[in-house]
Parts: sequence; C-alpha cells; structure tokens
Amino acid sequence: METHGADIYTASKLSGIDKFSIIDFSSNINPLGITVAVKQAAMNGIEGSFRYPDIESRELRESISSYESVPTGWIFTSNGAAEAIYRIVMHLKPKKGLVTAPAFGEYESALKASGSAISRYTLREEHNFKIGEDMLDIIREDTDIVFVCNPNNPTGQLTRMDMVEKILDRCSKMGAVTVIDECFLDFVRDKEKYSTVKLLQKYENLIVLKAFTKIYAIPGIRLGYCLCSDSGMVEGLKSSGPPWNVSTVAQVAGAAALRETEYVKRTVAYVEKQREYLVGELQNLNIKTYESHANYILFRTKEINLKDEMLKRGILIRSCANYEGLSREYFRIAVKTEGENRLFIETLKEVTEII
Ligand SMILES: Cc1ncc(COP(=O)(O)O)c(C=O)c1O
Repeated sequence: METHGADIYTASKLSGIDKFSIIDFSSNINPLGITVAVKQAAMNGIEGSFRYPDIESRELRESISSYESVPTGWIFTSNGAAEAIYRIVMHLKPKKGLVTAPAFGEYESALKASGSAISRYTLREEHNFKIGEDMLDIIREDTDIVFVCNPNNPTGQLTRMDMVEKILDRCSKMGAVTVIDECFLDFVRDKEKYSTVKLLQKYENLIVLKAFTKIYAIPGIRLGYCLCSDSGMVEGLKSSGPPWNVSTVAQVAGAAALRETEYVKRTVAYVEKQREYLVGELQNLNIKTYESHANYILFRTKEINLKDEMLKRGILIRSCANYEGLSREYFRIAVKTEGENRLFIETLKEVTEII
C-alpha cells in the first residue's frame, strides 16, 4: 500500500505509462509551478555547488527572518519539512506523542522510529474533521509532544486560533511541546488569522513548521524550516542530525522564493477558483466532499477501484486507505491547473460510468 502521494515512479511501473506523462493529482504542489526567478536562482546554485553549502544557511535564514519577522536565532532550516519532523523527535526523544487522525503520516512514523508511544485524537467525519475541545482532555502529564496540522492534510480543514491557543496553553501546563505544521497555510486566504508565528514569543514550547516545497513548487529541491523561540531547541535540532542538510541549490532557491509575494497572492486566488470548480463537479457526480481551505480536496465514494481506473487513464490520485481514521472509500486530489482539472473531471465521469 502506498504511504505517500507523488509516487509517479511506482505508478509508471504499474500502469506502463511514462512517469512524466502521468498527471499527478496525488501530491499537493502549487499548480502555477516553479517561477522563473526561483529556477534561475537554483541554476546559479548549481554553479556554486563545487563548494560546501553554508552550514548555517545564513543568507537564507536572514531572508526567512525578514519574511517572518522573527530573529534568525529562532530559525532551523531543513531538507524538506519532513526532515524537521524527524529532527524534532530525535532531539526531544518523547516518551509519548499525540497526533490527530487522519493527518500527515510522518508524525507517527517519526515517533515510531524513536520508540515513542503514540496516542491519537480522532477527527470525526460528522464534525467535518474539526478539532474539538475534547482533544484537550487527552493532553496529559505523560504527553511530551503534540502535532497539529493546520490546515490539516488530507482533510483541508482549518483549526481556529482560539482552539490552537487552548492546545498551546494545555501543552504548556503539561510540559509538552506543540508542533503546528503550517506547511499548507500559504495556500489559505487570510492565513494571518491562523498563523501561530505571532505566538512564538509567548510560547517557548511552540514549534511552527513550514515548507518551501509546496507553495513554491520545489519538492525536488527539498527545503523547509521550523521556528521556535527556545534557542536550546534550535541548537538541539542542529545537533540531532548530519551537518550540510540544506544544499546550496536549496538555500539560494529558497531566498529567491521568498521574494515571490505576487506569485503567492495569485496562487491563492487561482487555487480558490479551481477548488470551487472541482468541488462543484464532484458534488454534481454525487460524490461526498469535505470542506477544504487548502490546495487539495478529500472526497468519499463507494468506487473503491477509482485509483486504479484513473491510473489506467494516466491520472494518479491519492488513495487515503492508509490514513488512520479513513478507509478505501476516501481519496484526495490536488487542485491543479484549469486544463488538468477539467481533464480530471472528464476522466472521472468516464470512469464512474463504467465501474
Ligand atoms: C502536512 C505536511 N507536512 C510536511 C510535509 C513534508 O513536506 P516536505 O516535502 O517539505 O518534506 C508534507 C508532505 O506532504 C505534508 O503534507
């Protein structure tokens, strides 16, 4: 069973379709693609790649510092956001971690890899997969770390700031670290209302996780970062894994990406419009969709062979069968370009008629 989206390599082997001809709806990457400036910066990075990268990612951290309005000492840069998740767990060695379910699987994988016990808070379909106050009751004295994904992957649901603050307060009281994964927040309209970056000063136990990979469409370059006002934590993250974890190419591409503010604004509007189109069309086909504020949509259908049938026609979607709390009836698709989205709907209509 698949563990992640984006695996066009296995999909190509299974379907016999060339990997780059497969239309990948299974990974949630900015449909507007990598910008000219970021690509150029990455090429310049290759020119300088005969040298070791700056072990401290100094220029990139300066850029992140101005972009996020936080001191450089609060920033740890990583080889994709996924690496930061593992480093956090490696450094803290939590005895017990709390995750929500369904959510991004790497929180659990990292906890398992470090031998931590795991408890789960189930996000209920009947509550639109929203976090409720009852989550607070399971943050107890033996909880060392809590992961919250906002907006959540794979549901696209947001957690409001008042609820996040309650979680942070409860975690502070119980001596737990809270990781808020905001890797998809850049796709959300009014993201400032939800971002916890402004709470970093108040909560030393808060780590905010961000990715360049999704919003700037550079998953192949691998770049993420996390923010924390506890300098001991940032130092701990550095020593929790090998040095030079962020390549020269990633460092310069990242610094260039942070200047792409117009592109991000355009992305939010584009994704919103295309998401509306996809949700409308799915609903016309009597497929149950769930409220999403991100660049992907979770839906439910009895057509459990949907992934295979779509792949035969060159479209890869994400089966959510391996998500804790979901089943073979759930699928996730990315919001892609207008043309790709239309093709997806046409293909879906064809497939649902025959299965
Ligand atoms: C919620 C969430 N956080 C983090 C990551 C890791 O992203 P990256 O590719 O930057 O390692 C992903 C990847 O899918 C994700 O969905």
